[in-house]
Amino acid sequence: MICPITGWNLNVTINVYIGIVRKNIFRKAIPMKSTLSVIVAVLVFVISVAAFAAPAAVLPKGYLSWKKSERKIDTDKSSLFYGIHYIYADKAAMKGYQADNRFPEGSRIVVEYFNIKGNSAVDGPKNMIVLMKKDKRFKQTGGWQFAGFGADGKPSGLDPVKICFDCHLRDAAKKDYVISTKKDFK
Ligand code: HEC
Repeated sequence: MICPITGWNLNVTINVYIGIVRKNIFRKAIPMKSTLSVIVAVLVFVISVAAFAAPAAVLPKGYLSWKKSERKIDTDKSSLFYGIHYIYADKAAMKGYQADNRFPEGSRIVVEYFNIKGNSAVDGPKNMIVLMKKDKRFKQTGGWQFAGFGADGKPSGLDPVKICFDCHLRDAAKKDYVISTKKDFK
């Protein structure tokens, strides 16, 4: 693991910070300057650890009021996406679609999936929700956080690298890994 601030191995970084703190604590009279350096070292350490830990996936509140795609139906029963779905894009993501799929940091896109019921004129029960959030910390998945949720909004634990990104990489490597386009939001 590499510390994003020092660029050193994280263990080395932690040891250096601890070293600075110890050296100052065991000195009898602690001058103002080193007290400050201890505070700065601790702060930098806390911030670098916080920046390092990838945040857990949370379904954004209020996405139902974002820009909504047309109703999309996939009637191919062999498809993973058999059913009805709607795509929701926040303001930043809409800018990304308008710029031919070049998305600004922080863009969020949510898809809700529903079963097909009877003649498919009405949506069946919701069965799945997925999220993509542009976040440069997620280097393994193209700078996007991918997350799957059940209909209740609880994380479904689908592997973002093996399941989600694999398919998005195949279908949209040249479109910032986003498969839909502005045409879906007419
Ligand atoms: C088998 C291929 C495949 C897999 C696996 C897959 N997706 Fe997708 N995903 C698609 C396709 C195709 C679309 C476009 C749907 C449309 O245009 O209506 C899409 C659309 C999306 C969108 C809307 C933005 C876009 O790219 O168009 C999000 C968000 C999304 N998927 C998230 C996920 C997440 C999270 C996972 C893993 C839990 C996942 N996807 C797994 C194929 C896949």
